[in-house]
Amino acid sequence: MPKAIRIHEWGGPEVLKVEVLPRPVPKFDEVLIRVHGASINPLDWKIREGSRRAMYTLPYHLGCDVAGTVEETGASVKDFSRGDAVYSMIGREGGYAEYAVAKASAVAPKPITLNFAKAGAVPLAALTAWQMLNENGNLKPGQRVLVHAAAGGVGGFAVQLAHHLGGYVIATASARNHDYLRGIGAQEVIDYNTTKFETVVRDIDLVIDLVAGEVQARSWGVMKPGGMLVCALGPPDAAKAAAAGMQCKAQSVRPDGAQLREIGALIDAGKIKVELAASFPLEKVGDAHTLSETGHVRGKIVLTA
Ligand SMILES: NC(=O)c1ccc[n+]([C@@H]2O[C@H](COP(=O)([O-])OP(=O)(O)OC[C@H]3O[C@@H](n4cnc5c(N)ncnc54)[C@H](OP(=O)(O)O)[C@@H]3O)[C@@H](O)[C@H]2O)c1
Repeated sequence: MPKAIRIHEWGGPEVLKVEVLPRPVPKFDEVLIRVHGASINPLDWKIREGSRRAMYTLPYHLGCDVAGTVEETGASVKDFSRGDAVYSMIGREGGYAEYAVAKASAVAPKPITLNFAKAGAVPLAALTAWQMLNENGNLKPGQRVLVHAAAGGVGGFAVQLAHHLGGYVIATASARNHDYLRGIGAQEVIDYNTTKFETVVRDIDLVIDLVAGEVQARSWGVMKPGGMLVCALGPPDAAKAAAAGMQCKAQSVRPDGAQLREIGALIDAGKIKVELAASFPLEKVGDAHTLSETGHVRGKIVLTA
């Protein structure tokens, strides 16, 4: 019987339990994936610790995105067959497992240049960056983009995608990440530990806000009139945006297999690289959460199964 990670109570990493669960059965429009790489996202440990208990119920099977091979397909699935190498943001549960199901519409072929661990690291974070820049941000070539928390999972993809789309990218990160960020397309890098970004940045068209709080509050002043701030940590402060003459939107990532195909093509063309900070076996998920919760990981963490 296959292994999966679930929680039966809210709490620290110790509530993560390795269990043996029946293999999921795909519905007519779903794909069953034998998982080889599953991503850790901050959402996972936010759910685990119970800060979102109003939205999620116990027992909860964590995990949003995976890479693996197709094991079985539902009756209406035409695009995938048993044995295909795929990756997917499957939703907000079920990814920490040896087997996971996804809507076929959320699945795409795995980028051929990535192994399963690296491919599993991509879907949720890259889709978030894609949707923040292309949908909510509507980034145009030549625009100036400020990416807060640029060295993290989402930030790394946001820097590379914004650069690819022709944006002028300014990134905030600790000094140890500056060479990495310059190497993936940031034209300017600011050490937020030593420099207040508002003293050195101005005329920003688009802020990719992956921090919120006082970082968001200080961002309005560096933007062009009418500029856009997109926040991934809940709705931005609309009153402050209006008072400053700015626009703002909240990002909530959604699965999208078509977008993953486009992201995969960019990866295989060498335009987007995947930075893997660490990889843990499924059983060591607690260590993976502890590392993610430091808030200072460069790139992504994955589980291998
Ligand atoms: N709403 C959505 O759709 C959505 C989707 C994905 C993620 N999110 C949320 O977005 C946030 C970022 O996600 P993630 O996966 O990128 O997280 P992550 O990988 O854990 O981010 C870690 C990075 O944050 C940087 N950082 C921490 N504090 C910072 C600060 N004050 N200024 C600049 N950089 C800072 C760290 O850089 P240094 O090491 O250099 O300090 C580190 O590289 C999380 O809160 C997550 O829950 C929301």
